[in-house]
This record gives sequence, structure tokens and C-alpha cells, in this order.
Amino acid sequence: MVPRGPTSLKVSPGLTGSKSIRDRQVQDDLAINFDVSLVDIMKRRMPAIKWREYDPDVIPLWIADHDFPPPVEVKEAIKEALDIGDVGYADSSEALQLMAEKVTEVNRISASPVDVCVTQGVLPVFWLACKFACKPGDEVVVTDPMYYPFFETARATEVKMNYVRLDFEDGYKFSDERLKDAITTRTKLIFVCNPHNPTGRVMTKQELKSIADIAVDYKLTVMSDELWEDIVFDGRQHISLASLGPEIADRTITAFGFSKAFGVAGLQIGYAIVTNREMMRKIKSIGFRDKSDPDEPALRGAGSLALAAAKVMLSSNVKYYIERLVAYLQNIRDLTYKRLKEIGPIGLAPLEGTYLIFPNLKSYGKSSDQMTEYLLKKGRVVVESGSRFGPAGEGHVRINIGTSKEIMTEALSRIEEALKTIKTS
Ligand SMILES: Cc1ncc(COP(=O)(O)O)c(C=O)c1O
Repeated sequence: MVPRGPTSLKVSPGLTGSKSIRDRQVQDDLAINFDVSLVDIMKRRMPAIKWREYDPDVIPLWIADHDFPPPVEVKEAIKEALDIGDVGYADSSEALQLMAEKVTEVNRISASPVDVCVTQGVLPVFWLACKFACKPGDEVVVTDPMYYPFFETARATEVKMNYVRLDFEDGYKFSDERLKDAITTRTKLIFVCNPHNPTGRVMTKQELKSIADIAVDYKLTVMSDELWEDIVFDGRQHISLASLGPEIADRTITAFGFSKAFGVAGLQIGYAIVTNREMMRKIKSIGFRDKSDPDEPALRGAGSLALAAAKVMLSSNVKYYIERLVAYLQNIRDLTYKRLKEIGPIGLAPLEGTYLIFPNLKSYGKSSDQMTEYLLKKGRVVVESGSRFGPAGEGHVRINIGTSKEIMTEALSRIEEALKTIKTS
């Protein structure tokens, strides 16, 4: 795994230099425990939508939040920001500097603070990419299956989607031939998601290189969503598309964030890296204009509390958290796969990254929507219907395994009980 944050990264002394935080970190180093119990977590996470949307007896394996508390340093940073009254219009300059240093050193994309744009999570970057690259009627190439909010963004910006299918049978490998076939004269944008939601695929350098070569040849913009960069298993390394050379860097918008690794989606902070200065100028003029225009909602950067947390999440102080999280999740993945294989004819592609599995349940003879409803009613677990993720998701469900061993074991028992009564083909 690429360690999060080079050791040279510094956060402001007021935030992590304090004795109390260092002391707590030492304590936490000893005490950190991802083995949250079902009862405890329900109490603790009640405010988050994941645990609120369904009846209290339902185990939520749907929305992609993990169930672990963020690092103690992150909580302390937010509290300290409040204590010093950091609640006015936010000064993002220090965060921009740290983001530029992080992508330069960790992602190997050479960036300065002017190449960084802080956003309210990664989702606004989808919108910026479509608005920047496409006019209504233009086309974007997107994988099928794909994280479905991207489909919604394409619809909202009136951009037509051409699918590149990823096949379950082929371990969801990316095909450059299919990519070329999907490109027409109206195609302006390629949307890449790596590590990939919902398939859990982590692209190889070769696959990324073929996308880069095609984008350069066909003069296309690329939006590379790398939000899941930290959650990669079995010693894999996440490779940033824009790190493959100046030509691809020049046409790529890369989106990063913190929500998946640190479990802080509610802070709503992400950042886009665009090292082509003219491209960045245009993107900022689309999203961050300050004149009011009813058709173009002005975006704002993140709030001061999220920025205070981000400074810590970008530092090496919390590297230990990511390392332990990934090790813990890898065990959850292994126990989940073992159990699902015992349960019945459930198709599983290797989970290389993310904490989202996308099993194929076609042998049970139900559509994705029917299976999702059935698992909720009969099993009291809630998963996401695969068909939301595009035509190739039909017959699959997406299960969020970002939870403790106890909770996942209980969820798997419920799934087993529910599936027992269905005849398989
Ligand atoms: C691939 C991907 N991109 C973007 C997002 C949204 O991220 P954020 O909540 O930081 O906007 C998610 C959330 O699950 C995701 O999986």
C-alpha cells in the first residue's frame, strides 16, 4: 500500500503539535479497535443515514460509509478548530498547500496549490468535468457497471453515455478495444473510476497506460475518480492515471477525497487536481463564478471544520489508521468470501480494493431489485440493487463489507438463512 502522506508533510502546530493529541495518539495506538459491536455501533452511528434509513433491526450494508470511528487526531482537530473560533469564511491556503504536496509525493502528480481545487466531496467534480468537457449532446465514455451518481450527473448535464462493459467473467478487466469502439466524433470525456465502485477492481499500470494513450490520441479529457485510493488489498499499489506522463496529466481532472478511508463523508470535502492551468482556469470559472446565474449553481469549497480535519488526514500522523483499516478490511473480505462460497452458487470476482463487493446472484433466479427487496424482507439486511449501477449490474447486488467481524458475521448468517429457501438453477 502507498502510505498516506509523506513524512515531510506538516500540519499546523496548533492542530497536531499539541501534547494532548500526541498523548492520545499513543493511547489510541494501543487501543485502536475496529471490532465494534452491533449494539454499540447502532448507538454511536445513529445520526448517520446508513443506520437511520431502515428499521432498527435491519443491518445496513448499502451506502458506502464504513462503520469505524475516524482517527482520534481528526476529531481533536475539529474540536480545536472550534475552540479557536475557526468558523468564519474559511482560509483554505494551508490545505491547498498540503494537498499539492500530498499528490506530488504520494500520487506522483507534480502539483502546486494553484493546481488544486477544494470541493464539497468528490461528486461536484463529476459535474465540473461534464460541464468543462461537454456541451449538451456530447458524449462521455463510462464503464458499465459504474458508481451510479455519475449517470445522474451525465443526465443532469445532458451528456450522452457510451458504455464500456466490464465483464464479471473476465474479472472486470478493462478492454482498450471496447474503449476505442465506444468513442465517436461526439465523445469528449472518458470517466475512469479506480479503484472501481462497484466492482472492487484496481487497475494495472498497463490498463491505465492504454486509457492514457487512447485519451491522448483521440484528444479527450479524462475524469479520474480516485477517491478509494487508500483501500487496496494484498499489497497492491494504487497508480494515479495522471502520473503516467505530462501528456495525460495535461488532459486529466483527478478527484480525491477522504470519505472512504476515514469514514468522514459527512464532512463533505474532496479536491480536484488539474495541472493544466488553462483547463483549471476554465473549470474554476464554471463552478466558482461569483455572479449569480440561475443555470449555473456556484460551488463553494469546503467549510472550515472539514478543512481542519483535512490537514490532519493529509499528514503522516494518521498513516497508522489506514494501515490498520486496510488490514482489518482484508480479513473481513476473506471471511465474507469464504462464507459466501459455502452458502451457495454465488459468483464472486476478486476484491482488489474498496469495501464493496458485487456478487452475482443470477442462479437464484431473481432480478437485482427483487433480490434486494427479498434480502431486506426475509434477511433484514439492506444491500444496493446491482441494476442501479448499469445494465451489467443486473443479477448482482452491492454489499458494503466495511464493518466489524461481529456485524458482518451476523449479516452473513442472515443472508444464508434468507437464501436457503430459494431454489437455485
Ligand atoms: C467512486 C466514488 N466516487 C465518489 C463518491 C462520492 O464521494 P463524496 O461523498 O466524497 O462526494 C463515492 C461514494 O461512495 C464513490 O464511491
